[in-house]
Amino acid sequence: MTDRSSPTDHPLLEATDVTVRFGGLVALDRVALTVPPATIVGLIGPNGAGKSTLFGVLSGLIRPRAGTVRIDGNDVTRASPQARARLGVARTFQRLELFGELTVRQQLVVAYRAKRRRTLFDLARTLPLDLLGLGNRPAPGEDATVDGALELLGLTSVASVSASAIGLGTGRLVEVARALASQPRVLLLDEPSSGLDARETDELAEVLARLRAEAGVALVLVEHNVGMVLGLADDVTVLDFGEVIARGPAAAIRADAAVQAAYLGTST
Ligand SMILES: Nc1ncnc2c1ncn2[C@@H]1O[C@H](COP(=O)(O)OP(=O)(O)OP(=O)(O)O)[C@@H](O)[C@H]1O
Ligand SMILES: [Mg+2]
Repeated sequence: MTDRSSPTDHPLLEATDVTVRFGGLVALDRVALTVPPATIVGLIGPNGAGKSTLFGVLSGLIRPRAGTVRIDGNDVTRASPQARARLGVARTFQRLELFGELTVRQQLVVAYRAKRRRTLFDLARTLPLDLLGLGNRPAPGEDATVDGALELLGLTSVASVSASAIGLGTGRLVEVARALASQPRVLLLDEPSSGLDARETDELAEVLARLRAEAGVALVLVEHNVGMVLGLADDVTVLDFGEVIARGPAAAIRADAAVQAAYLGTST
């Protein structure tokens, strides 16, 4: 197995003092988040707390007003999403977005090749006939990575099924598998259980635990299913109205009065 640990003592991914404003709204107010290698970090909070916004800042889609994002201790606050992807950051989105025309396996192949295709030469090789590069022979390591991700997510039997023909539950797993095919060191998951039934949610939780244990991937898990987060995460950060109101191990978060107040709407 490849060594996915940090080359230094720095956290794999770290945000410090991150502030984001949308007009007059302070979506994030000096927020910090630390993700050591191969850990599961939970990020919870009521609707509009700023969870997806923080993912935007970590993945490079949203530039913060203030604060710093670091990967392995290196400042990437101004780095593009593509540059961060090459450094090992992958994410899924709150709304499921698969390419309907492609099979389940092809979704992963595209993700694998997209991470590698960074030179003009590579691009010219695949244009104009084959925009996604699917007609090319597999790149070195591609089959092993793609098939390994399918296997880990239990998707081998639907590999050649069109994405438009699979249900939402399977689609969520495909999205995780696709992110995994880009061989991330840290995977940001924005509400992966949304739309899943209880059995599918349990299966997903099992898969996420295995991802960390078997593939050594660090996860940041945004979820409305608080029970799932408290069951999986090593460390949990709670946001409310753009501020961190609690951070700690699951047991402490479960007992935290401010967290209960934020969720139940009672005053502290
Ligand atoms: N592009 C934007 N422009 C203006 N306001 C935004 C934008 N994106 C988010 N917001 C606002 O910022 C706040 C934080 O939104 P965000 O989507 O990060 O919350 P969230 O914690 O992910 O919520 P949810 O649980 O509903 O997904 C909300 O008040 C939201 O309305
Ligand atoms: Mg959100």
